[in-house]
Amino acid sequence: MTLSGKKALVTGAASGIGAAMAHRLAADGAHVYAVDLVAVPAAEGIEPLVCDLTDLDAVDALPADVDVLVNNAGRQHVSPIEDFDPALFHAILTIMLEAPFRLVRRVLPHMYAQGWGRVVNVSSAHGLRASPFKSAYVAAKHGLEGLSKVTALEGAPHGVTSNCVNPAYVRTPLVEKQIADQARAHGIPEDQVVEQIMLTPVAVKRLIDPAEVAEFASVLWGPASASITGVSLVQDGGWTAH
Ligand SMILES: NC(=O)c1ccc[n+]([C@@H]2O[C@H](COP(=O)([O-])OP(=O)(O)OC[C@H]3O[C@@H](n4cnc5c(N)ncnc54)[C@H](O)[C@@H]3O)[C@@H](O)[C@H]2O)c1
Repeated sequence: MTLSGKKALVTGAASGIGAAMAHRLAADGAHVYAVDLVAVPAAEGIEPLVCDLTDLDAVDALPADVDVLVNNAGRQHVSPIEDFDPALFHAILTIMLEAPFRLVRRVLPHMYAQGWGRVVNVSSAHGLRASPFKSAYVAAKHGLEGLSKVTALEGAPHGVTSNCVNPAYVRTPLVEKQIADQARAHGIPEDQVVEQIMLTPVAVKRLIDPAEVAEFASVLWGPASASITGVSLVQDGGWTAH
């Protein structure tokens, strides 16, 4: 198996895309540190680690012997900027940008010593495009894109790659939880949010399944991955073709 003998760390591994990534990495042979606010159910190859990524001291204490780092944890908040709670803006930036920086900083020495490492940043179509009412999320994802590229340039001489994956809307709790807020912010009924908001920018009119994201991302630690670095792999149903 591609990753046998290697260790992976996935943040936000209890749900949605992170859970799919953790299972895919374990299926590819890695021992997976599965990090989340709550303990991920233990499974073959999966070691749950409880950590709140807003606590940066706790982030700095996570394992450093990581060969594949998947920065995935995230949360959404839908609100116009003038009403956006600054504390929530700060928390979202901490979870989705500063914690990834701390983790990259923590694991690079191990990757450099091995002469091999893979950093996979779960960005979004919102790492490349903006939408109204998502200031913290869009700012964090655009920042993550920059962090990923710098990591790619610094890591290249050491056999370390860094990339983003950029899905459009994926069927996960993060999406389900924002439907009421989207309806309120846009002034439309809740049952019209998927069609009128989420599927409007995409040419392929469907929500993506988390397992599709994990399958797509697996190219980044697979046998053809050595020269894929500093890029954003879009899985966006044609969103950025506009
Ligand atoms: N769902 C989508 O449509 C979509 C699209 C593009 C990108 N993404 C990105 O994919 C990633 C995963 O999202 P998802 O849709 O699977 O969401 P999700 O809500 O299903 O899972 C997110 C996980 O992150 C964890 N998390 C949140 N805050 C945390 C914290 N402070 N400390 C530790 N863990 C924390 C949650 O507990 C949860 O298990 C996010 O970065 C999101 O921005 C999602």
